[in-house]
Amino acid sequence: MCGIVGYIGPRDAYPILIKGLYRLEYRGYDSAGVALHDGGLKLYKTHGKVDDLASLVNGQDASGTSGIAHTRWATHGEPNQVNAHPHYSPSGKLAIIHNGIIENYSSLKAELMNRGYSFSSDTDTEVLVHLIEDIQQNEHTDLEEAVRLALNQVVGAYAIVVISEECPDQLIAAKKGSPLVIGVGEGEFFIASDPTPIIEYTKNVVYLDDEEMAVVPRKGKLRVKTIKNQEKTPYIYHLEMQLSSIEKSGYPHFMLKEINEQPRSIKDSMRGRLNAAKGIISLGGIIDYEQKIINAKRIIIVACGTSWHAGLVGEYLFEDLARIPVEVEYASEFRYRNPVINEGDVVIAISQSGETADTLAAVELARAKGATIIGICNVVGSSIARATHAGSYTHAGPEIGVASTKAFTAQVTILTLMALSVAEKKGTISRSRFYQLIHEVDAIPAKVEQALKVNDEILALSGIFQHARNFLYLGRGYNFPVALEGALKLKEISYIHAEGYPAAEMKHGPIALIDEEMPVVVIATKKGSYDKVVSNIQEVKARKGVIIAIVTEGDQTVKGMADHVIEIPETDEALVPLVATIPLQLLSYHIAVLRGCNVDQPRNLAKSVTVE
Ligand code: G6P
Repeated sequence: MCGIVGYIGPRDAYPILIKGLYRLEYRGYDSAGVALHDGGLKLYKTHGKVDDLASLVNGQDASGTSGIAHTRWATHGEPNQVNAHPHYSPSGKLAIIHNGIIENYSSLKAELMNRGYSFSSDTDTEVLVHLIEDIQQNEHTDLEEAVRLALNQVVGAYAIVVISEECPDQLIAAKKGSPLVIGVGEGEFFIASDPTPIIEYTKNVVYLDDEEMAVVPRKGKLRVKTIKNQEKTPYIYHLEMQLSSIEKSGYPHFMLKEINEQPRSIKDSMRGRLNAAKGIISLGGIIDYEQKIINAKRIIIVACGTSWHAGLVGEYLFEDLARIPVEVEYASEFRYRNPVINEGDVVIAISQSGETADTLAAVELARAKGATIIGICNVVGSSIARATHAGSYTHAGPEIGVASTKAFTAQVTILTLMALSVAEKKGTISRSRFYQLIHEVDAIPAKVEQALKVNDEILALSGIFQHARNFLYLGRGYNFPVALEGALKLKEISYIHAEGYPAAEMKHGPIALIDEEMPVVVIATKKGSYDKVVSNIQEVKARKGVIIAIVTEGDQTVKGMADHVIEIPETDEALVPLVATIPLQLLSYHIAVLRGCNVDQPRNLAKSVTVE
């Protein structure tokens, strides 16, 4: 949802900024721009991707040892050159980049227009830079104070960086609700929406908190203060992230790399938490709050997108194993519908990025009403992780492909460990079932590895179905969320309409859609409602639907009925989503590639949705 980068120091800023934009392109790719300071300000921006910006700048003067750059996911104003960031102030002496939404921008804009200002773009961001300059001129303040006073008038979310022609030796950055991190190098500073543009240069970073601003100098010390003018001592974190984790490492797309990383990422999610031999699960991050989960009258899971699907698996797990009633809520609905939240409720917020605005707002709402909030986030130090009482990081490593894959299986892994740990302490499952399940959890990375071997079969299948216009995905029980996630993956990256449905519910509507043109993916693994799913397959076949079945290794019954069969290793019913999701991820990936879609940057989507 917009990526921002800044640099100030002794080096040429442009190569650092453009590389940083490529790293952040997963956050938005409607338009891109850069402003450089080299005595005066130079600004280049264009509609399109970072590649288009690089072509625009190629051959032009890109000198300057400080600068700011932006890749946009449009909110206010269509994605075009004029609305691209950076935006100039009226005099052209200031330029700003912004990620977020200024909610009161129209009233601020009207006030500024009354005072004679005009605007060239439709963005909320241009209003902010006008306001900063207006304050600077009318109240005779320096840049730092003008930014501070302007931010006190702003309602909404922002991560901004301001560069000034008159202050060649500083950048001003600030944040509220949108992420911002500052890299502290040797005599140089880097600013970005997340650490990926920074770690190549330094692993020492400072995270700004909400309503904090930083005066980032060319030389000397970084200063941080609140927008209420309270000085803060910047705390420097040392990041462990490796450069290889944010590169494609020989894969044609991040998505394929991330799909293939799952045996490792699932293992990383369990590392130090599961000791199958000793029969121990220990989730250090929630240890002080586990009793609250055990005593919970109800668990509410809030999330969006793929994380919501992981939440649905969580519902089955907690109800099945720990016998706690669970409601899974779209964060965007939950926050606006006056939900009943009691002090004894536990809210689990699931988010890969830890920055999804609706999930964050749902967390804040539930926290204000006295619920205990547990986070399951991938990005360490993210806003949601910090807004919760306790939580478990998924440790899946950076996920860069816009369509979420390894984050999903890591989230489900954590939910499985949580549900099992609570169930065992609550006594809702027998010791033998607990042992059986944790040994099976321990075996999941190897089973996922084996499931990945269907890649070539899926590729061949994708060739057959690449021109389909619709897909139906069916599953029951634990496989229902898998069906939803399979359909979402296909929609997101191949733009084929797909619906996920509980298999039995099909006859209450979607069955009307079935004919020989309709591929139906059925997750028909052994156990659970297997026999019922077999009946559902027959219902589809009777109407000439084409069945692609995901079955347990060795299954003969479904093989005899389905048009295409993909076998996956057998596991416990409660753990099937971790394995059954793999072929569906591969199916969407290969179909999208064959259709010539941009898999890592699907149209209109952004990885991290930091606006409502
Ligand atoms: C966006 C992404 C999805 C993701 C969802 C929730 O829509 O495109 O892939 O599942 O946001 O994101 P989160 O970071 O909260 O898991």
